[in-house]
Amino acid sequence: MNVLVIGSGGREHALAWKLKQSSLVDRVFVAPGNAGTAEDAENVPIPETDFAQLIKFVKENGVDLTVVGPEALLAAGIVDAFRKEKLRIFGPNREAAQLESSKVFCKQLLRSGNVPTAEFQVFSDPESARRYLVDREDVPIVVKADGLAAGKGVIVCKNREEALEAVERIAVRKVFGAAGNRLVIEEMLHGEEASVLAITDGKTIVTLQPAQDHKPAYDGDTGPNTGGMGAYSPAPVVTDEMLHWIEANVLVPTVHAMKKNGCPFQGVLYAGLMITPLGPRVLEYNVRFGDPECQPLMMRLKSDLAAILDAAVDGRLDRIESLEWDPRPAVCVVVASEGYPGEYKKGFPIHGLEEAAKIPDVKVFHAGTTIRDGQVVTSGGRVLGVTALGDNIARAKYQAYAAVKCISWPGKWCRKDIADKAINRLTQSGANRNS
Ligand code: AMP
Ligand code: GLY
Repeated sequence: MNVLVIGSGGREHALAWKLKQSSLVDRVFVAPGNAGTAEDAENVPIPETDFAQLIKFVKENGVDLTVVGPEALLAAGIVDAFRKEKLRIFGPNREAAQLESSKVFCKQLLRSGNVPTAEFQVFSDPESARRYLVDREDVPIVVKADGLAAGKGVIVCKNREEALEAVERIAVRKVFGAAGNRLVIEEMLHGEEASVLAITDGKTIVTLQPAQDHKPAYDGDTGPNTGGMGAYSPAPVVTDEMLHWIEANVLVPTVHAMKKNGCPFQGVLYAGLMITPLGPRVLEYNVRFGDPECQPLMMRLKSDLAAILDAAVDGRLDRIESLEWDPRPAVCVVVASEGYPGEYKKGFPIHGLEEAAKIPDVKVFHAGTTIRDGQVVTSGGRVLGVTALGDNIARAKYQAYAAVKCISWPGKWCRKDIADKAINRLTQSGANRNS
């Protein structure tokens, strides 16, 4: 079959690379893609938001399956547009995508499914939110804009004063626009974060290995939030036993609640979790693969991704065999442009990609790259996701950074501590001894 992947980031490169390995797949197209997907698949110069052109391309090129990367397209109804034309597409429809595009929808769904999450209240006007904050104890609290706000709509507040300021920014000054028409105010949770993703056809779920990303820009989880500066899988904070618990108490009830509420969910259910002393709690749901979590997950997945996604689209995931994973951990280090996540310059030629590719068990996934005059140049904030497998997580980290060292352009930088949390946890527990 022919497959189309929509998007242009590291996640889409990892998906295209993995799909291309399937014996079921003839051609993999990526729209619009990047310099890396041009190498491992075939780029199609159609903007990801141009649904009509994408549909035309799919019909004219015998594409049997379309896989959507970014959430904004799902929230804008790309799946509904394709299904109207009877085209096979992997991802939730617009209504189901509200699990990510509306925090209010998500929290109410979690409540209705009895899924563990932070205690919360919903407000549709700033005055009642203020009153609520003034009337309750002055404790750390989290204020969230309801809608999509490019990952910035969540404000973690140390005290009431900060929370009142957050309400002002979101609901009065509307710094995130209409995303701030409603607010969620919720209890602050403590613990370590982890991501557990599952593929579902709306009835059956296939849980992937746990992963963890690094959202803050700088070492030691400091600095501004980013799309993710690195990721690794597995995440030792999620034990096998806990993963089963999450499947049974988080993922399954969520899929049931979606079905019961009349919007069955087909696609990737990505639970952003806080592993608290009282157990895992859902912080948020995303409705697509994580970026960069997808990169280490695809490095480790041995099963045929095309077969899984194809089955999910047809509602026959119950007939898929259990997933096979490379037992070795994978670490992805995001290499970024100077200035990211703020402003940055583009167009610098990237050197050393071939040397990096020679390092064993390394794959350099491209994110913000393009080809100019036959040369790979930077074209985004997150430029590359250098991903490596290793016999243990420390070794995977070492290999990834060895590959990062080969690569250069002016202003290139990355976090130096990707996966350290996992390495420290394993060292403390002694599990890494002799390995
Ligand atoms: P969200 O988009 O809801 O996942 O929020 C983005 C980030 O804000 C999360 O990855 C957490 O680091 C933080 N966060 C969100 N909700 C909470 C909460 N209830 N307690 C503590 N941190 C939170
Ligand atoms: N890595 C976080 C995300 O994909 O939302």
